[in-house]
Amino acid sequence: MSAKFTWLGHATFWVELDSHRILIDPFLTDNPANPGVKAGDLTPDFILITHGHFDHISDAVSIAARSGAKVISTLEVIHWLNGQGITNTHAQQHGGGFRHEFGHLKLTIAHHGSMLPDGAYGGNPAGLLITTTAGKKVYFAGDTGLFLDMQLYGEEGLDLAFLPIGDNFTMGPGDAFRAVKLLKAKTVIPCHYDTWPPISVDAAAWVSRVNAETSSKAVLIKPGESYTLE
Ligand code: NI
Ligand code: MN
Repeated sequence: MSAKFTWLGHATFWVELDSHRILIDPFLTDNPANPGVKAGDLTPDFILITHGHFDHISDAVSIAARSGAKVISTLEVIHWLNGQGITNTHAQQHGGGFRHEFGHLKLTIAHHGSMLPDGAYGGNPAGLLITTTAGKKVYFAGDTGLFLDMQLYGEEGLDLAFLPIGDNFTMGPGDAFRAVKLLKAKTVIPCHYDTWPPISVDAAAWVSRVNAETSSKAVLIKPGESYTLE
């Protein structure tokens, strides 16, 4: 198995999972944290979208239309994408799992909003729990506040978790630290911070605290950098 996760800034990730290329929460064109990747340069096989906010979906239609990638999200977000002319789609809903070509995907709950860029109803936001074909478990929390049911996802035995720490719109460093203790992932990587002033936090301090005070290993990557799951 090979699983390489490249951070494209904010909550956007490019995932190379075995032979599959997966784009998560595409927000490139207006993303202040974008390390220099153009939406037009990405040709994924799959696009996974946690919720309808612009900073997670704004480049989805153009990339999906050009690449033909299969887009996977909640029923409401998929319904909206279908209305934008995107037809290669797969809708799921919270708690439901499905075995895709790249692995098994379950949508998890997330405490947040999901209104689409044009104001359309986006249903409830989600997180992503991916089980690779080799059995590795990777959790993208999406945009969310802290919730106790993270403990249930932790019981699945997480190898890697991506957590928002930027505060204001999602968990801040304090609650994200508590999330680490509920999730008990082997490795955690922070995201959704420093993109704009309201979500500017000291990520290095957060990583140090997690490494000093929990059994999880926190890894700090910069936009443009990658983490490879062994
Ligand atoms: Ni959001
Ligand atoms: Mn967001």
